[in-house]
Amino acid sequence: MGILQDKTLVITGGTRGLGLAIAKAAAAEGARVVIGSRSAASVERAVAELTAAGAQATGITCDVSDLTQVEALAEHAVATFGRFDVWINNAGYAPPFGPTMHIAPAAFMVAVQTNIIGTYHGSLVALRAFLPAGRGKLINILGRGSDGKPAEMQNGYASSKAWERSFTLGLAQEYKESGVGIYAINPGMMTTDFLTNLTAVSGYEKRLNAMPTIIRTWATPPEAPAQRVVWLASSATDGKTGLSLNEIGPGKMLGGALREGWRRLLRRPAPPIDMKIAVIPAALPLARKR
Ligand SMILES: NC(=O)c1ccc[n+]([C@@H]2O[C@H](COP(=O)([O-])OP(=O)(O)OC[C@H]3O[C@@H](n4cnc5c(N)ncnc54)[C@H](OP(=O)(O)O)[C@@H]3O)[C@@H](O)[C@H]2O)c1
Repeated sequence: MGILQDKTLVITGGTRGLGLAIAKAAAAEGARVVIGSRSAASVERAVAELTAAGAQATGITCDVSDLTQVEALAEHAVATFGRFDVWINNAGYAPPFGPTMHIAPAAFMVAVQTNIIGTYHGSLVALRAFLPAGRGKLINILGRGSDGKPAEMQNGYASSKAWERSFTLGLAQEYKESGVGIYAINPGMMTTDFLTNLTAVSGYEKRLNAMPTIIRTWATPPEAPAQRVVWLASSATDGKTGLSLNEIGPGKMLGGALREGWRRLLRRPAPPIDMKIAVIPAALPLARKR
């Protein structure tokens, strides 16, 4: 019997990357999974993939920035499987790489609407179900910046992740006696579209030249952190509300650097990293130096 036998998980942004990896890992542990994302075609494809692998899976389109759609995702989970036991706020977005004032306000707002408002909406809908029942687990996916350290050129993203951590741990404190588990996890760098399909503001794209080395050194496939999320969702974390995990600690940083150094020392060829960097004009032209 798997560690999530008879549990139902709802995963926002569950159609690719980490979200889909969590869905697969949870299904392998006996869970039923409910996924959502903005694209109907992606939802259909991911549900078909999960079902073909033997999972009990369903999904609907759900943009987390719209409360009505998030409520509909919860209703769909209840209508299909009778209830949901775990809610994972995974959907995330990073604005183009570049200085804050050069990012179009619309792109900045997508980060706010997805990472901040989306996490609020998912938490609201999940806790409305979990708190009266005195059970359930809410897991929020963090990212760069959630340690509170500023991240230049990724300010919109990193500051939203700092908010997410603070918000999640605030909820955990407020509801610590409720029986509901509230957790946060930074999965660390992962080889998903999110990391390998980047957009940079014109003039700043060269700063991403080191990305293939960074990815080779420190990124993992999403399947590794997905296992940790499954563990968080299991009874292993009962009574441990407020846990905040970071999958990119000093040990992993050092291990990656040593592996990459060793590879160079032995002159082994670098495994290719398939990266795409789109360059867009700056929203605000740079002032000319006089
Ligand atoms: N990859 C990394 O290196 C990394 C590192 C640290 C943290 N993270 C965090 O991990 C989480 C997952 O990232 P990932 O790497 O798996 O990203 P990804 O490969 O880009 O996948 C993102 C998923 O979220 C969905 N999504 C995006 N905006 C949405 C919205 N407004 N409403 C609903 N769904 C939405 C996408 O589907 P649609 O496009 O169809 O909506 C997709 O299913 C994010 O919270 C990210 O911040 C990633």
